[in-house]
Amino acid sequence: MARSEPLRIGVLASGRGSNLQAIIDAIESGKLDARLAVVVSDRADAQALERAQKHGTDAVFMDPKKYPSREAFDQAVLGVLSEHRAELACLAGYMRVLSSTFVRALPGQIMNIHPALLPSFPGLHAQRQALEHGVKVSGATVHFVNEGVDTGPIICQVAVPVREDDTEETLAARILEQEHQLYPRAIRLYAEGRLEVRGRRVYVNET
Ligand code: GRF
Repeated sequence: MARSEPLRIGVLASGRGSNLQAIIDAIESGKLDARLAVVVSDRADAQALERAQKHGTDAVFMDPKKYPSREAFDQAVLGVLSEHRAELACLAGYMRVLSSTFVRALPGQIMNIHPALLPSFPGLHAQRQALEHGVKVSGATVHFVNEGVDTGPIICQVAVPVREDDTEETLAARILEQEHQLYPRAIRLYAEGRLEVRGRRVYVNET
């Protein structure tokens, strides 16, 4: 289904924002027909906020301490996304678990990127978990967000072989390179209306 206007994305990020940068680069180079409507961070010092400003996007710091509950904070974030008419929320290194309130408000409209081949190694320190487990292949996953932690329907994945001399840092760096390709690609499929979720499976329709 062709869109009349480019997809409006809101990105939620807590830190460095290299995945956000990959999305910005894909938009600026014309590889991704989308608009970055707003970037929200729960950390005032997040580099992601600077990256957004440099691109000319509204960068909003929201302090969780100013809200009485997780739900209240999430409602406020939803408010900012809606003010900016964001149609898809992309989590990119967002270090907060979304409340059910948030997830239910945007059904099928929230994506996340995770540095492992889910369902292996969800949660924090996925690369460390992979090394400790001794897997030979890890990777990255982009998935829709449901009410669990890293449990939503998988959109796309890429495998990254683990080397014998890998440390958490070297493995994370090689996975990150792949993440930067994978996330814009997943968003493009969404923007093109090609993703169809049936149960746990996400089907990619041909154009
Ligand atoms: C990435 O590894 C991403 O998969 C994980 O958090 C990290 C964020 O990195 N969810 P960055 O802030 O995008 O550079």
